[in-house]
Amino acid sequence: MAERLTKSATRNIFYGGSAFFFVVFVLLTAHTHYYMRTVSTDESTLSESVIRGKHVWERNSCINCHTLLGEGAYFAPELGNVWIRYGGRDDPQGARDALKAWMQSQPSGVEGRRQMPQFNLTDQELDDLVDFLEWTSRVKTQGWPPNNAG
Ligand code: HEC
Repeated sequence: MAERLTKSATRNIFYGGSAFFFVVFVLLTAHTHYYMRTVSTDESTLSESVIRGKHVWERNSCINCHTLLGEGAYFAPELGNVWIRYGGRDDPQGARDALKAWMQSQPSGVEGRRQMPQFNLTDQELDDLVDFLEWTSRVKTQGWPPNNAG
């Protein structure tokens, strides 16, 4: 038995190891996608208004100031949990009204407070946006982000 690894044995370990871990990577990627669609999110409640709301979110670049589930900019509050923080679980209509009123009353003009622009969204756009935020609040993130502030 050879005492040292030969060149070809080393090469085989390298190629074999690379191939093995590539396969593991592909399997884990497939599993992640499967898990996201079947466990983390609820596709059956992905309504037209939720989809429209996501487009309102994207068109107005809310992510430039806010985070959503921990991703985005850290200028303004996390919004993945805003529906829950506004009491949407116990009083959905109250939370909807409060969120719409918030959007309509910006900027607050309060001295020393960070300001959010006025987007002049229509009532329909506001409702769609709230539907999107409500749907997002139900994404199972396994406790991420770790605190309310994102
Ligand atoms: C230019 C930065 C900026 C952009 C862009 C922006 N926001 Fe904000 N937003 C803020 C700031 C700053 C606050 C906190 C203001 C305060 O507390 O007085 C805020 C607060 C909020 C709140 C209340 C959060 C809470 O925890 O009470 C909601 C809801 C909200 N924004 C939604 C949106 C949506 C939806 C969009 C996109 C249409 C958006 N924001 C785009 C800066 C921004």
